[in-house]
Amino acid sequence: MMMVKSVGVQKNDDVLLIGASGGIGSYLYQMLISLEANVIILSSERSRNYTQMIFPDAKVVTKIKDVDNKSIKFVLDTAGNESLLNQSESKLLDGGTLFTSALPTYHKLRLDIHSVFNNLPISPKQYKKIIEMLSKGTLKAQINKVFEMNDVKLAQHYEDETASRGRIVLKIND
Ligand SMILES: NC(=O)c1ccc[n+]([C@@H]2O[C@H](COP(=O)([O-])OP(=O)(O)OC[C@H]3O[C@@H](n4cnc5c(N)ncnc54)[C@H](OP(=O)(O)O)[C@@H]3O)[C@@H](O)[C@H]2O)c1
Repeated sequence: MMMVKSVGVQKNDDVLLIGASGGIGSYLYQMLISLEANVIILSSERSRNYTQMIFPDAKVVTKIKDVDNKSIKFVLDTAGNESLLNQSESKLLDGGTLFTSALPTYHKLRLDIHSVFNNLPISPKQYKKIIEMLSKGTLKAQINKVFEMNDVKLAQHYEDETASRGRIVLKIND
């Protein structure tokens, strides 16, 4: 939500979303669609089928070369892969924006685009809005696995060692 707001995506904007199978990307895709943006998802090979399964109507590609050059207004990145970001710059229209929540050190190569990094926590007001959307079903959370609170270390390892599949949840009580 913070990403969408801070870059100012609007209806009919062409957006390349890098990574939609993770915690941030799976929310982001839904928010972009609710804004009626035109979204292409760039997925890793290993997460392609999962991404297409959770978003059956989405256009999903696994190779950056399959996105037309200079066709995209916003690149929104959740993956933090520098080489991929370098390549994605050629997909941006003149004056386009590359936003990453994942790579604070990224330095753009093109002079005529905007590059933004931000991973600040969202405000309580924005959290409230997200919770309302979840309760109404206008936003759906992808839950990967639920762990007991005592298994927090296990959960951290699981997250680090497996492909992203939405959120990992720690159970506080029943
Ligand atoms: N979670 C939060 O609340 C939060 C808040 C602020 C900022 N952030 C930052 O935002 C970033 C994303 O967070 P997250 O929790 O969504 O992480 P995540 O669950 O690990 O998601 C990362 C996404 O990027 C994809 N990806 C990785 N390498 C890729 C590649 N080469 N090509 C295409 N897709 C690729 C992953 O797919 P695979 O799993 O298949 O690789 C996954 O879909 C992180 O850098 C995090 O530090 C997170």
